[in-house]
Amino acid sequence: MPGQYQHPLQNIVEEAETAVSLGVPAVILFGIPKNKDEIASQAYAKEGIIQLATSAIKSRLGDDLTVITDVCLCEYMSHGHCGIVENEAIINDKSLLLLRETAVSHAEAGADMVAPSSMMDGQVGAIREALDAYGHSKVPIMAYSAKMASNFYAPFREAAESAPSFGNRGAYQMDFSNSDEALREVELDVAEGADIIMVKPALAYLDVILRIKDAYRMPIAAYNVSGEYSMVKAAAQNGWINEIALTLEILTAIKRAGADMILTYSAKEVSRWLANE
Ligand code: PBG
Ligand code: ZN
Repeated sequence: MPGQYQHPLQNIVEEAETAVSLGVPAVILFGIPKNKDEIASQAYAKEGIIQLATSAIKSRLGDDLTVITDVCLCEYMSHGHCGIVENEAIINDKSLLLLRETAVSHAEAGADMVAPSSMMDGQVGAIREALDAYGHSKVPIMAYSAKMASNFYAPFREAAESAPSFGNRGAYQMDFSNSDEALREVELDVAEGADIIMVKPALAYLDVILRIKDAYRMPIAAYNVSGEYSMVKAAAQNGWINEIALTLEILTAIKRAGADMILTYSAKEVSRWLANE
């Protein structure tokens, strides 16, 4: 993706300091391990890339930057799926055990918040219980509750080397044509203890953001995903649109729909634009 990089561990603190200096309040970390396997070992390894990056950032920056960790298995699995696979099927409840371990290992490394994104049934409740059991009852959960099976994720999968090697994510991500299902997923996550509800992608799902905000009065996060970002970049490179104005219009629309916070690849750039206004 234009302007986005895989950061090695030794650069991560500097990158985090840049974010802080620009006024970005939080980062979300995604890991790319050296080795992938069928049990996602590096997702919950004590010396895994996210665990090391989290503790490096937190020990340098403390409360100046909120560190959120994405809790999923796909980047760590040789097959690229978000859970355990047996005979080409996702095994939901075995996957939950690994997600629990992953979330706890992130909290032990100092993560301020965890963001489960695998879309396994019961992931929020399982992670809440595990965090509480290991003394992390104050670590909140930002739940990817309404996460559609979207074509907008393609640039991320290439960047994170996490495209599924067979099949697709339709068995666990949501049908994008059905917004009632999004509300039912949110209801389950709220009951399981979610602190923040996320809608992903954002721009094509403003109606979902609005419906959830109206129905639940929960803090809502919207994830302005890789495909949304890359479309704007590509159009800008062709001279077809005004990049700054369009990016601000998109982010404003997401906010207007009801998002309390936005996860965006444009965070640093937008902060610079706004500072130079
Ligand atoms: C999967 C995951 C996805 C993204 C981040 N983690 C979706 C997917 O591959 O199905 C997409 C983020 C983006 O497109 O910016 N846990
Ligand atoms: Zn995943």
